[in-house]
Amino acid sequence: MTQKFFTVAPMMDWTDRHCRAFHRVLSRRARLYTEMVTTGAVIHGPQERLLGFSDVEHPVAVQLGGSDPKDLAEAARICAEFGYDEINLNVGCPSDRVQNGRFGACLMQEPNLVGECVAAMKAAVSLPVTVKCRIGVDDQDTEEALNRLTNCVVAAGCDELTVHARKAWLQGLSPKENRDIPPLDYPRVYRLKQARPDLPIAINGGIKTMAEVHEHLKHVDGVMLGRVAYHEPEILLAVDPELYGEAAPVADAFEAIEAYEPYVAEHLAKGERLHNISRHMLGLFTGRPGARAYRRHLATEAVKPEANLQTLRDAVAHVSRAEPMLLAASA
Ligand SMILES: Cc1cc2nc3c(=O)[nH]c(=O)nc-3n(C[C@H](O)[C@H](O)[C@H](O)COP(=O)(O)O)c2cc1C
Repeated sequence: MTQKFFTVAPMMDWTDRHCRAFHRVLSRRARLYTEMVTTGAVIHGPQERLLGFSDVEHPVAVQLGGSDPKDLAEAARICAEFGYDEINLNVGCPSDRVQNGRFGACLMQEPNLVGECVAAMKAAVSLPVTVKCRIGVDDQDTEEALNRLTNCVVAAGCDELTVHARKAWLQGLSPKENRDIPPLDYPRVYRLKQARPDLPIAINGGIKTMAEVHEHLKHVDGVMLGRVAYHEPEILLAVDPELYGEAAPVADAFEAIEAYEPYVAEHLAKGERLHNISRHMLGLFTGRPGARAYRRHLATEAVKPEANLQTLRDAVAHVSRAEPMLLAASA
């Protein structure tokens, strides 16, 4: 039986290095993913800015967007040198820009090419090479489409598959709508796991609570959380104790911010704006009295050029430290 695992989804504009370092304060074990980076950007772009990350982030996977096996091999090699723990290929993003580049979700229609991409990356690096896909696109039959893709990537040596359990519709829906409108089909992913007992499979899409995470783990090996992990990051405090049998690294959101302060200080000292770091922390304290004032303080003050650690502390000072349970009882 494979060890059960938990991952935080790759999310463009959201899971940048600061976000990942923050999530790491809440869970030592969750595997974290970068935003998607295209092979062109990795090979020709400002590599340090695009790929640089902190040691604290491990285990961290880089997600690549591309469909040229040679370019993907080269990009994987560069990412391996940067020290990433895993190379992931995006076969799920439906944006027009991505379709024009002939990668992302439209690759569900070209399983042989995806297999060639995986094989090229496997040959280039000794890291795990994984794929994140959908159950199909447009009018594809999801039984056939997902089986064919899986067969091709497994034959090429793919180490793990994460399946966003809905189709992508390549015409007429925005990427955001494509994360909500095509219906979820979790049983399809469970069937894939039954058919492929040896392949580690994670399920993704619309999962909102730890209770749901546990339910999915009865059927598959891993769960990937996206929007909920971002908007309600305190859920990550439950990951280490509930899924890995280890204590959470910090007791609560207050301790999380204290533990994160040295990282914030280090990056402010390098010239980073507080807002670029604190924008990922707005979801903390949700449900506590003062959470709204905390968010408002960060939204108005952290954008100022002189914002510093004290700005963050002043924001936190708005939040009630009383236990939410006690507050509920006295309400
Ligand atoms: C803002 C945003 C950006 C995303 N960017 C990516 C991306 O770069 N690569 C990718 O594979 N999926 C991306 N996704 C999709 C997520 O990884 C995930 O599959 C999707 O949000 C469904 O999971 P959830 O319901 O837990 O959020 C993005 C999602 C969001 C909300």
